[in-house]
Amino acid sequence: MIPDSLVMLMREAEQIVVLTGAGISAESGIPTFRQALTGLWAQYDPTELATPEAFRRNPQLVWDWYAWRREMVAAASPNPGHFALVEMEHHARQFRLITQNVDGLHARAGNNHIIELHGSLSRVCCEQHRHPADSWDDSAERPPRCRICDSLLRPDVVWFGEALPAKALEQAFAAARAAALFLTIGTSGLVQPAASLPLEAAQAGAILVEVNPEPTPLSSRMDYILPGPSGTILPALVRAVWPD
Ligand code: OAD
Repeated sequence: MIPDSLVMLMREAEQIVVLTGAGISAESGIPTFRQALTGLWAQYDPTELATPEAFRRNPQLVWDWYAWRREMVAAASPNPGHFALVEMEHHARQFRLITQNVDGLHARAGNNHIIELHGSLSRVCCEQHRHPADSWDDSAERPPRCRICDSLLRPDVVWFGEALPAKALEQAFAAARAAALFLTIGTSGLVQPAASLPLEAAQAGAILVEVNPEPTPLSSRMDYILPGPSGTILPALVRAVWPD
């Protein structure tokens, strides 16, 4: 299932860089975004829930939707795909994990070098000045207000039309350019700028690998495609590359 040449390349890679998307958390029971029927964007309209305009129009609806997602994630656990990436980090000479996911499951599994491109469900900040809030009480007013400036609290995630956190973006592109081997796992490759990271890596000479049960717009650019669910493929890959 895992080509011998890929096993050798992974063993010898000076730096392995991984980009993950919602697909890696699918086997933890967290819905992806774009899958027909089950994806969040098949059931909910992103323009009503994941834009600054939506928050201005109906802050309580947006706050409650993210609270629901936060609870769903809290009740979920990392799956074998997440744990395989912890093993990979442990064995690789150098390792960087870039994620578009806001679910925090990579950190809960035990990875250390995580670059979060789209923020995190576990963090909340205020709308106006991005003051972080460590705790909040939403039993009275939803969303609650910032204790410092009184503007509304919001999830610290990137919404459509918003810029990605500059430092994370810079670190992600630097990691991509330094990669000997770049794995793209469980992402549809449709959202920029994350989708251009593998191409940036390839331009700088990296070998590209995709793990996904479905083909994506990035598939034609890959050196290796490992078709299948990441919860099966990644543990098999790690076992093949580092058998003990
Ligand atoms: P998508 O929902 O667009 O794509 C999920 C991908 O995971 C698809 O290509 C599936 O084929 C694949 N997949 C499904 N099950 C899988 C499994 N068990 N193992 C491996 N892959 C599997 O999710 P993303 O690409 O993450 O942005 O979406 C990118 C961004 O769009 C998200 O970060 C989010 C969304 O709008 C923001 O919220 C800013």
